[in-house]
Amino acid sequence: MKEVKIESKLYVFESIEELPKDVNMLMQKAAEARGKAYAPYSKFHVGAALLLDNGEIITGNNQENASYPSGLCAERTAIYYAGSQYPNAKVLRMAITATSQNKQTTSPIPPCGACRQAIAEYEVKQKVPIEIYFMGEKGKVAKSDSLANLLPFVFDKSVL
Ligand code: THU
Repeated sequence: MKEVKIESKLYVFESIEELPKDVNMLMQKAAEARGKAYAPYSKFHVGAALLLDNGEIITGNNQENASYPSGLCAERTAIYYAGSQYPNAKVLRMAITATSQNKQTTSPIPPCGACRQAIAEYEVKQKVPIEIYFMGEKGKVAKSDSLANLLPFVFDKSVL
């Protein structure tokens, strides 16, 4: 038996102002999308913006449902739309931001496990890493160079 340690690398920016200009703009698109979230049950509003290699920017937000599990997260709303409309485009970057009506979100809010799995599918498919930036309403912004950093032991097509 041996112990295996897994390392993961993240970068942390002090605020949205510290981001490169184009990333700052993408995060602003995510915030705009967040403002249109449909989240009457959780009151937790999430926005995501994707940059594709064809220059398109795709946004999405969480869509809730009275039958709770029927709702969908912002990240998957956006990436499934991108996949359906631009099946040959690669996703280069994703910006995610979340706010809550119940408390202030001032630390980076990472994508949930189901969204990581969905994003992993596209990263594996396109063979190009997806940069992921995530934040709360304000404060620090975390960056991962690749979805792989956020989902060690990924379940992907290689096991099928
Ligand atoms: N949510 C997202 O949109 N993305 C995530 O990664 C985590 C959670 C949404 C789902 C639900 O509408 C609300 O946030 C509370 O969980």
